[in-house]
Amino acid sequence: MSSDRTLPTRPFRDAPHDKRGALTPTLYRVIERIRETSDVTTLLLEPLDEPLMTYRCGQFNMLSSFGVGEIAISLSSAPSEPLLRHSVRDVGAVSHALCQRTVGDLVGVRGPFGSDWLVECDNDNAETDVRDTVVVAGGIGLAPLRGAVEELVRTSERGGGRVFVLVGAREPAQIVFTADHDSWEARGATVLVTVDRATPTWTGRVGLVTSLLADAGFDPEHSRAMLCGPEIMMRFTARALVDLGMNPEGILVSLERNMQCGVGWCGHCQLGPFLLCRDGPVVPYAGLVSHLLTQREL
Ligand SMILES: Cc1cc2nc3c(=O)[nH]c(=O)nc-3n(C[C@H](O)[C@H](O)[C@H](O)COP(=O)(O)OP(=O)(O)OC[C@H]3O[C@@H](n4cnc5c(N)ncnc54)[C@H](O)[C@@H]3O)c2cc1C
Ligand code: FES
Repeated sequence: MSSDRTLPTRPFRDAPHDKRGALTPTLYRVIERIRETSDVTTLLLEPLDEPLMTYRCGQFNMLSSFGVGEIAISLSSAPSEPLLRHSVRDVGAVSHALCQRTVGDLVGVRGPFGSDWLVECDNDNAETDVRDTVVVAGGIGLAPLRGAVEELVRTSERGGGRVFVLVGAREPAQIVFTADHDSWEARGATVLVTVDRATPTWTGRVGLVTSLLADAGFDPEHSRAMLCGPEIMMRFTARALVDLGMNPEGILVSLERNMQCGVGWCGHCQLGPFLLCRDGPVVPYAGLVSHLLTQREL
């Protein structure tokens, strides 16, 4: 058990040197606002008077709506994009306030925090790293993966491994980033979408996202996977991938817990021995995480 108590393959690469500084938000201005679905809004942000932050795909920021509060939101942009992109689902007070921001409004941004999908380094190794990547997302879970898919597709175009994007949504109106799906497909990725409940005009697949795995066309033994969505979806998807022959060490999942400080101080994001703002949100499925994934947030 003791060897399971750390995440040895996931060094905390991003420890803020100055934690006090990491607690102070930077001002960003809303440059564009995209209504993705009835309850998901994307904000494109530029810094007011600082260079754009550098970050890696899968990391998150703490976004504040002044006078309301601050919440964790993943970066949905790729680091190569000129603006920060955050896609927010309106579920409560702070996310609602952020979704109401319009062009020209200011928001506070702290970050970037946490671990990442480890895709940027692939750009340097396009010719040598030809593993296929299977990206599986449920609902707004595609947001933390969007930048990674962009990077993977770019690498694939340069001779890297193939990219398979499998998306599940409750119903057709809940599918996010449909224009990106078309762009990824046009550049060689396989994109499959399924919904839990069809509407009369839906002609696509119906069923859980796990139903897409078997005939997607990837070679499980020579692929890695990145999963983000409801924990039950990640649990079943990871198990199905292992049953198909994928090495559990090659499966990454993104876990969410209540985040407050983002820098490993307050303990709110604890999951077993891990602080997910620091050791996550992206963690390997193998080992202790596969057991912890069944635990409910306290
Ligand atoms: C690392 C990380 C990355 C995230 N990335 C995104 C993102 O890209 N886009 C996005 O829309 N949301 C994301 N979230 C979830 C987001 O932080 C919560 O939805 C938000 O905290 C809700 O705050 P609120 O004040 O709007 O709602 P609250 O009033 O606090 O909560 C409303 C409802 O949402 C539930 N809730 C609160 N926090 C979470 C949570 N962390 N996960 C699941 N349910 C929660 C509550 O139990 C309650 O039922 C992320 C969370 C984490 C930890
Ligand atoms: S959010 Fe404070 S320790 Fe993780």
